[in-house]
Amino acid sequence: MAGSKRGATKTSDDGTVLGPTGRPYHGFPTPPPLDGHGPARIISLCNQKGGVGKTTTTINLAAALAVYGRKVLAVDFDPQGALSAGLGIQTHDVPTIYDLLLDTKRDPKEVIVSTSVEGLDILPANIDLSAAEVHLVNEVARETILARVLRKVAPDYDVILIDCQPSLGLLTVNALTASHGVVIPLECEFFALRGVALLIETIDKVRDRLNPTIELDGVLATMYDPRTLHSREVLERVVEAFGDDVLETVIGRTVKFPDASVSGMPITEFAPEHAAAQAYLRLARELVARGAVA
Ligand SMILES: Nc1ncnc2c1ncn2[C@@H]1O[C@H](COP(=O)(O)OP(=O)(O)O)[C@@H](O)[C@H]1O
Ligand SMILES: [Mg+2]
Repeated sequence: MAGSKRGATKTSDDGTVLGPTGRPYHGFPTPPPLDGHGPARIISLCNQKGGVGKTTTTINLAAALAVYGRKVLAVDFDPQGALSAGLGIQTHDVPTIYDLLLDTKRDPKEVIVSTSVEGLDILPANIDLSAAEVHLVNEVARETILARVLRKVAPDYDVILIDCQPSLGLLTVNALTASHGVVIPLECEFFALRGVALLIETIDKVRDRLNPTIELDGVLATMYDPRTLHSREVLERVVEAFGDDVLETVIGRTVKFPDASVSGMPITEFAPEHAAAQAYLRLARELVARGAVA
């Protein structure tokens, strides 16, 4: 089968090729080059459940957008620092996002580091960030601190992706307040939808009180295994719940992701021909086609 049809799984009665979400399969066009860069659209990757593919998606979507010539800043906003590690960035004894939150006068450019991927920079995090919630709780406008930090660097990038921690606490509220859009990764597993109502409620509250224009850019099905009935049923239920908000690109389950993380490289560099790298490139094209990214 042609490479462009990767991810297509079914054919409808009239012969239309359907993707795993049941809609007609689109390859999505290669994003046209940009004349200049910025200001960035900011997108949070958010789900209070751990292990659903937030960090993996941030790394590989960021790298895929960079492949298409977009200038990308990935923000590690989880004290576990998995995003930093996954991009091969050492975070011991270096300034991190935490320092910017505590001192908003500090220049973020002193903290941003470039990665091995051309066009992809990162604001790293380490375990220090776990103290942030306690430190910030008594600050004035404590929900808008990250927004104020990112405003300073938004002109330099086309897109900023924030890898949220698995909670709906103050850090995640800061991420949502700073964002134009949110992508919700959902693992195609039992209980995928459990807790999602609370997440949507949190986004609605942030829209109501702090950030009136935040949009749901899409729900991304991850760790999909087309061979199991279970995975297909979960995806069906996700489509029932979210309709066209479910992104057509679905990320398959493969050990290439853990392997790539260990190597400190995005999959687009670690195994560019692998279906998993192609899936994240397609996700990047889909988000550009939807207008979520320039
Ligand atoms: N599509 C996938 N197939 C197989 N393993 C995956 C996939 N996506 C992520 N993983 C692995 O699952 C684990 C959790 O993923 P991660 O992106 O860290 O989730 P989160 O950031 O939501 O906690 C990691 O070990 C990661 O390598
Ligand atoms: Mg993570």
